[in-house]
Formats: sequence, structure tokens, C-alpha cells
Amino acid sequence: MQRGKFITLEGVEGVGKSTNLQFVTDWLREQGISFVQTREPGGTPLAEQLRELLLARREEAVDPTAELLMVFAARAQHLAQVIAPALARGDWVICDRFTDATYAYQGGGRGLDRALIAQLEQTVQGELRPDKVLLLDLDPEVGLSRAANTGAADRFESEQLAFFQRVRAAYCERAEAFPEGYAVIDAGVSLELVQQQLRRELEQLV
Ligand SMILES: Nc1ncnc2c1ncn2[C@@H]1O[C@H](COP(=O)(O)OP(=O)(O)OP(=O)(O)O)[C@@H](O)[C@H]1O
Ligand SMILES: [Mg+2]
Repeated sequence: MQRGKFITLEGVEGVGKSTNLQFVTDWLREQGISFVQTREPGGTPLAEQLRELLLARREEAVDPTAELLMVFAARAQHLAQVIAPALARGDWVICDRFTDATYAYQGGGRGLDRALIAQLEQTVQGELRPDKVLLLDLDPEVGLSRAANTGAADRFESEQLAFFQRVRAAYCERAEAFPEGYAVIDAGVSLELVQQQLRRELEQLV
């Protein structure tokens, strides 16, 4: 049994991850590839509860290391319950955000040490890494204005623009550091043109 491919969608708020997830799953269905569609933080009942805790706005200041450990707690559960079994039975996994988001938000955004994140990544994931990170790249100002129409701001969406600029920069740094694992997609163009770029990347994976 061949292990399935593990694909993640990344980028700042409003770049179009959720919108394009639908495009990717439609494409997988057309190819007759069986897959599991999921998201982070979340993807299991426990991990979804951790997501709610992470996103809730609260009076209490959230310690960045506490935030980081909650992200990885959710990830450990998600990997054990959903991602690893799916890949092992040959399904592809398409995930809305994964560990690159941790490097971007907790590393770039919150300023936590990348070496600490790498250590937790190794502990929780072992050798497992996405086969391809589809990074939707967009000026955060544009992304935030797109996302502004989609309900009340969560704890992350309430951050200042400078936070999201650091997030974007951290994503781009990783894509530059590991070019073979990333596809940087220009998300500032029409949905049709974004999906043309995505299709080209997906075709290279089969
Ligand atoms: N290429 C595009 N051009 C214009 N609008 C777009 C494009 N892609 C997505 N949108 C719109 O932007 C909004 C945000 O998209 P979406 O919810 O998919 O982003 P997201 O990356 O999942 O955001 P979040 O991080 O907040 O979950 C939606 O209203 C969507 O229709
Ligand atoms: Mg989304």
C-alpha cells in the first residue's frame, strides 16, 4: 500500500484557503483519488475544543508558550486520530493550515524561538512533513479586508497589521528556505487565476 500524499494550504487571514480547499477536493475527486479533508487547529472533537480555546477572545493575556503548546497538543491528537491513519491506508490528506502556520503565527507573529517550534515539531510529528505546502501569498491588508466580511474577529484576527506582516514574512522565509516543499501561489489575482496556479501544482504531485 502506497502512503497517501499530505497537502496543506497556508497563508494569512482571507487569502482564500477555505475557498480553494473546495477547488482542491473537487480536483482530487475528478482524479479518483480518495482523500480526507481536514483543518488545524482542529480535526478531531478534542482538537476542535482546543481550537475554540485558542481562538476565543479573553480578558486574560495568553502566554505565547501556552499558545504554542496548545497548538501542538491539538496537532498531536489530530495526527494520531486522523492524519496518520489516513496516509497509512493510502488516502491523501488535504489540511487547511498545519505546522507552517505555527512557524508563521507563533514564530513570526508572536516572536517565539524557531528552534523551540522545530523541537516540538520533531517530538509530535517525527519525520512526518507535508509533501507540498500550497502557500497562498497576499498583502495582509488585502487579506484582512476580504476576511472582514466573515463574522466577528477571533483572537488572532484582532491583532494589528504589523502582526500579519510578520506572519507573511515568516511564511515566505520558509518557502525560500525549503523551495522543493512549497508552491508559492499569488493569491492577489482572480479566483480563476489562483486556481490555474493550484491546478499546475497539483498535476505535478500525481
Ligand atoms: N482570489 C480572490 N479574489 C477575491 N476574493 C477572494 C479570492 N479568494 C477568496 N476570496 C474571498 O475572500 C474571502 C476570504 O476567503 P477565505 O475564507 O477562503 O479565506 P481564508 O484564507 O480561509 O481565511 P481565514 O484564514 O480567515 O480562514 C471570501 O469572501 C472569499 O470569497
Ligand atoms: Mg478559512
